Amino acid sequence: MNYSDEEKMELVAQWIRDKRRIVVFTGAGVSTESGIPDFRSPGGIWERFDPNEFLFDNFLASEKIRVKYWKFHTEIYYTIIKAEPNPAHEACVKLDRMGKLDCVITQNIDNLHQKAGLSKEKVIELHGNALRVTCLSCGKEYDRAAIQARVESGDEAPVCDDCQGLLKPATIAFGQQMPFRETREAEKRSENAEVFLTVGSSLLVYPAASMPVFAKQGGARLAIVNLTATPYDHEADICIREKAGSVMNKIVSLLSDQKG
Ligand code: APR
Repeated sequence: MNYSDEEKMELVAQWIRDKRRIVVFTGAGVSTESGIPDFRSPGGIWERFDPNEFLFDNFLASEKIRVKYWKFHTEIYYTIIKAEPNPAHEACVKLDRMGKLDCVITQNIDNLHQKAGLSKEKVIELHGNALRVTCLSCGKEYDRAAIQARVESGDEAPVCDDCQGLLKPATIAFGQQMPFRETREAEKRSENAEVFLTVGSSLLVYPAASMPVFAKQGGARLAIVNLTATPYDHEADICIREKAGSVMNKIVSLLSDQKG
């Protein structure tokens, strides 16, 4: 049966009305409307930087790569701190205020779900957060702004004040160990979800891209909101090829109308 986008959004709103455990899984496509480029759309980050240069082992092995990595992250940092949450982030907060949001599982490192108003308990960050810096040896946490100032004053590959270990933005580089607790928790919440919305992700990077599969295995209704095709469209109960902000905003306003 071919539903119109309007009918699809009404169907998703109906699922949410009837259920309690709603999980929203987000990718970089949820932040493009906040001015943060995604990775794989035309003009995206991997068109301008080579991800193979930033493999975790290369970061560990080469001071030259570390300097380049901090330059890459300097661009990301200034883009992120200027960015404001958009209607897609705000819709997740509204879902939470309705008591409908189990959690947001995000691949994004831009802190916009928290900036929009979700408590950190409600946000599972699979790929870390670019506004934190940690020492890879002793785990000491540093304020990102303070380290940015150090990098810009010439300390181009900073090390830990305590143990001289390598400092790195608290994000997960390719080849770096995924955060165990967050990954395990995301799998559990996906399996227990009653409705699972994936928004703005190409669903190409694992283990993050397995979450919709866990959701389907757990019996959830699966909706994929993405401007382009994903490898899981055939598994979804509903696919909406529209912009994340307008779709999420519409779904939540349908719910609010219903609440009267
Ligand atoms: N509304 C809906 N979809 C959008 C929008 C939008 N406004 N803007 C972009 N998209 C879609 C694109 O069509 C694309 O399929 O969002 C998707 C973003 O995909 P990617 O750029 O691959 O980002 P993501 O899925 O988050 O990547 C996963 O890959 O490089 C790693 O660690 C990085 O977390 C990232 C991971």
